[in-house]
Amino acid sequence: MVDIERGVMLDFVRVTETAALRAGRFMGRGDKEAADEAAVDGMRGMLDLVNIKGTVVIGEGEKDKAPMLYIGEHVGMWDGDGPEVDIAVDPLEGTRLVALGLPNALSVLVAASKGSLAPITAWYMNKIAVGPEAAGQIDINAPVRENLRVVAATLRKKVRDLTVVILNRPRHAQLIQEVRDCGARIKLITDGDVAGGISTALPDTGVDMLMGIGGAPEGVLTAAAFKCLGGEIQAKLWFPDDQSREEAIKQGFDPEKVYFTENLASGDQIIFAATGITDGELLRGVRYYGDRAITHSILMRAKTRTVRFIESHHDLRFKTVRSKKRSGELSV
Ligand code: FBP
Repeated sequence: MVDIERGVMLDFVRVTETAALRAGRFMGRGDKEAADEAAVDGMRGMLDLVNIKGTVVIGEGEKDKAPMLYIGEHVGMWDGDGPEVDIAVDPLEGTRLVALGLPNALSVLVAASKGSLAPITAWYMNKIAVGPEAAGQIDINAPVRENLRVVAATLRKKVRDLTVVILNRPRHAQLIQEVRDCGARIKLITDGDVAGGISTALPDTGVDMLMGIGGAPEGVLTAAAFKCLGGEIQAKLWFPDDQSREEAIKQGFDPEKVYFTENLASGDQIIFAATGITDGELLRGVRYYGDRAITHSILMRAKTRTVRFIESHHDLRFKTVRSKKRSGELSV
């Protein structure tokens, strides 16, 4: 198996930093498409400089027609001696969060050995996720009450002390009611269940569990993060209508299958990089100071489970914040 060299690790953060520096300019400007496009183009522009032979296996866009790093797109230098890797990206996880200046928007990139990321590029997943301490205790097929009881007991807490992150969506009315009936606390988020999931695995976020239905690609990204952090995600595909369910079955997907962390992101050749775009529990957002900007990122490796938080100070007079359109047009 190809070892993803440590040498290129930092380059992945340069990629998410560039996407964040580009997209951060759109904070609060009410234009989620423009923010997304800036992140995608920033990411694509910077990926050209990374010594990998990368193939995008998860991009964003099939669900909502975003301007994407499309599935199958070759990224990286491809002419060097770099490793051949699969790439999963969410250049802007939380487009509305940036458009409205709300917390927890991230730029995310995962690099992994070929074939190790589940290529689920469309639809939704029903997810349950917990940090390392409660890993191995959850069961997505068990009642909500039972999962809350078991996780509370494992964390040596009362159920009323638990905090569960749930996307604030009408489809979650029953889930929210069940969690409330059990007495646990809920943090309703408008978007961004990757940050929500990862926050269960980091100390000091105050979050114990993530529950509910969010994007399927986001589930794969969360699993990749858990391979580095030690948490657990379980997920089942979820379809908003019969047509998409039938489409998935036609493509060979089993709607009843439970995806465990290892099914979504397998092995230990996984690198996870993310940069904050807006402030959040996980990462601080981009700050601009005229000629300078500061970014805050996380960089993790499954093989060693090293988790690095990186604060970068960018001097924009010297730095080129690259951007490349799908047409190939490059700007710096
Ligand atoms: P975008 O970055 O594509 O806007 O996705 C944000 C997000 O909130 C994800 O974090 C989440 O998984 C998904 O959308 C939920 O989808 P929906 O908004 O359709 O409920």
